[in-house]
Amino acid sequence: MAKRPLKTLERVLSKAGIGSRTDARAWIAEGRVKVNGRITRDPDQWIDMARDRVRFDNEPLEARARVYVLLYKPTGYLTTYKDPQGRPTVYELIEDVGTFVSPVGRLDLDTSGLLLMTNDNQFAERVTNPESHVPKTYLVKASTLLTDEQLQQLRDGIELSDGPTRPAAVKRLRDSAKYTHFEITLTEGRNRQVRRMVEALDATVLKLVRIRIGPIAIGTLQIGKWRALTPTEVAALK
Ligand code: URA
Repeated sequence: MAKRPLKTLERVLSKAGIGSRTDARAWIAEGRVKVNGRITRDPDQWIDMARDRVRFDNEPLEARARVYVLLYKPTGYLTTYKDPQGRPTVYELIEDVGTFVSPVGRLDLDTSGLLLMTNDNQFAERVTNPESHVPKTYLVKASTLLTDEQLQQLRDGIELSDGPTRPAAVKRLRDSAKYTHFEITLTEGRNRQVRRMVEALDATVLKLVRIRIGPIAIGTLQIGKWRALTPTEVAALK
């Protein structure tokens, strides 16, 4: 028998873009959430996504507008909602979006560049699913001068602790006296992947900026600012 798509009520609400999980718990406690026509106050109730009908303030979850945000994340901001250590998060930069959106994948604290955020869970899963092979392009400043052979290693695949990397497109942009600047396009998105690939070459990453996801480029957006994706951009990534 096929496995039924079960999620807790709290998770269903937060994934639908209504609010954070903390918000969702509060709203459930306030009696604003109905499952199959009845108010429920249990945030941990299992929901069968194929069968159960969930309403928030009497509106079906699917009826809400989908929101797609492109943020130019600066370094020093976490892609989490709250940080126990009180460090800045990307949510401080999108307060005026007006809807709760979640990051589509992550960028490291020290990485800047294009971060998509949305309340469209299916869209997010499609972009982040490793099997979708959506290309992501980064500008990299390495801590040393890299040889052509080293750049070729990045292209061919590097053996990392979690397996070899898929073939990548790599373009040398320029060499300064001590550093190589290059562009790399990956079709997978493992944790700290670019940094780990460069470290395997006995160098480190001094600067990392994501400039493109699939057909969507960061363009002339200013750092720390966001804009909505155009319907054409959303369609191109779907
Ligand atoms: N690769 C990394 O190492 N870090 C990021 O933030 C993104 C890709």
